[in-house]
Amino acid sequence: QNTRHYTFNVKMNEFTRLCHKKSIVTVNGKFPGPKIVAREGDRVVITVVNNVQYNVSLHWHGIRQLRSGWADGPAYITQCPIQTGQSFTYNYTITGQRGTLFWHAHISWLRSTLYGPIIILPKRGVPYPFPKPYKEVPIIFGEWWNADTELVIAQALQTGAGPNVSDAYTINGLPGPLYNCSKKDTFKLSVKPGKTYLLRLINAALNDELFFSIANHMLTVVETDAIYVKPFNTKILLITPGQTTNVLLATKPNSPSATFLMAARPYATGLGTFDNSTTAGLLQYQQPNSSLSNNKNLPLLKPSLPALNDTSFAANFASKLRSLANAQFPANVPQTVDRRFFFTVGLGSNPCPKNQTCQGPNGTKFSASINNVSFILPTTAILQSYYFGQSNGIYSTSFPSFPLIKFNYTGTPPNNTVVTNGTKVEVLPFNTSVELVLQGTSILGAESHPFHLHGYNFFVVGQGFGNYDPNKDPSNFNLVDPVERNTIGVPSGGWVAIRFRADNPGVWFMHCHFDVHLSWGLKMAWLVLDGKLPNQKLQPPPSDLPKC
Ligand code: C2O
Repeated sequence: QNTRHYTFNVKMNEFTRLCHKKSIVTVNGKFPGPKIVAREGDRVVITVVNNVQYNVSLHWHGIRQLRSGWADGPAYITQCPIQTGQSFTYNYTITGQRGTLFWHAHISWLRSTLYGPIIILPKRGVPYPFPKPYKEVPIIFGEWWNADTELVIAQALQTGAGPNVSDAYTINGLPGPLYNCSKKDTFKLSVKPGKTYLLRLINAALNDELFFSIANHMLTVVETDAIYVKPFNTKILLITPGQTTNVLLATKPNSPSATFLMAARPYATGLGTFDNSTTAGLLQYQQPNSSLSNNKNLPLLKPSLPALNDTSFAANFASKLRSLANAQFPANVPQTVDRRFFFTVGLGSNPCPKNQTCQGPNGTKFSASINNVSFILPTTAILQSYYFGQSNGIYSTSFPSFPLIKFNYTGTPPNNTVVTNGTKVEVLPFNTSVELVLQGTSILGAESHPFHLHGYNFFVVGQGFGNYDPNKDPSNFNLVDPVERNTIGVPSGGWVAIRFRADNPGVWFMHCHFDVHLSWGLKMAWLVLDGKLPNQKLQPPPSDLPKC
């Protein structure tokens, strides 16, 4: 087993985008942050040193963290944050995964600038199940804010209103030529004709799902969330925050004398405001006769992208994703279920505290909940409290398995959908086979919610629009080759059904990967108990685990 060592020095650095200079939180002064490269089976050891005024915690999004839950990273769930001047070493082994994932800060909104790719290569000598690419290129989408994002969310939570939105989307940290004062900050991918490139796409944006396309080029999807899929061709793809997608790009055989635009812009169905702008980069063919590509007057070919609220594109794209499910890469879909859960997920509001004016819906405060419970982060990490037997006053095990208030979830919501605030977990005995239906609600508008589960991949066995029907819908579940992933968009005005086997003991966060919904409480945690055998137990905590 190889060990890959990294030192992540969290420090401030100045960057200018859209003619706006700003000091941002970075790792090693870089934006986006450095990439982690490892092979399946490797141990990864990352020492994070906090040299900024904020508390920090980093999450290795999509890494299974088998029995190493201490290294998962969400603040107040698996660890207390790393305080200013302190350090913590994350130590984990990559098991049974290969492809693209990413790391990001998991506290407040620091994820807006603290993120970077994780690239997991197959074991040495093991080929990809697709033609070997000529080159591999990470493409990480993000958002640029002229404002300080810590102030943006603090202010939104204080007033109860929706937060300000970003000023640009970015490709590898660069907004691109379609924004004012941004031409020089454009991502350029220079390619040779007749070659195959593997693009490792990552959506690290805070609050928006994105459509992506490259003009006049077909993309072949081969992997999502570090799991291979049955390859399919598409001109456009949809990627939610928290999702990663590997695509093959075959460049045209005879040097076409052009530069093509690649572009990403949001898919959004909610009523709220969002950044409705387009980030773009360039796909430039290297010309043997370079005068051509230097010709500034050549028209750029732009890709066409679906309408902002094109939910049928989203549903159709989701239905194309299938596991490889072959002898080498089987899909171990749980065929039987021990526990069924039904969670309503959506927005809502909380009464305005006395003596305060709130700028949320009808003078209330925005909130969001699962089964009407809006999750409050505790003051010490749940995993520590559990491990040391000190849950009292930290969390309760009373998370409801079904909604307490039943209504027509996708119709007109009732007036009495009272949200309760609490820190409640759902307990699962080791190896429980779980089926979970996530039902979107239309309280304050139907919106898609990209749901992410820590510590696991799950199989997406079904999805549909309207209210989930437990008598009818399961007969259409795909238990043969459903896609296996760690983040799934709960359809706007619909539901999704997932299955997983709770074989990884620990405390595992599950939440909407829109940071604004996360801040409003659209989150919960699973507490998976140890099994009986020694290799079914959570490992003891590292000695440098931060204290609260
Ligand atoms: Cu990508 Cu809880 O995170």
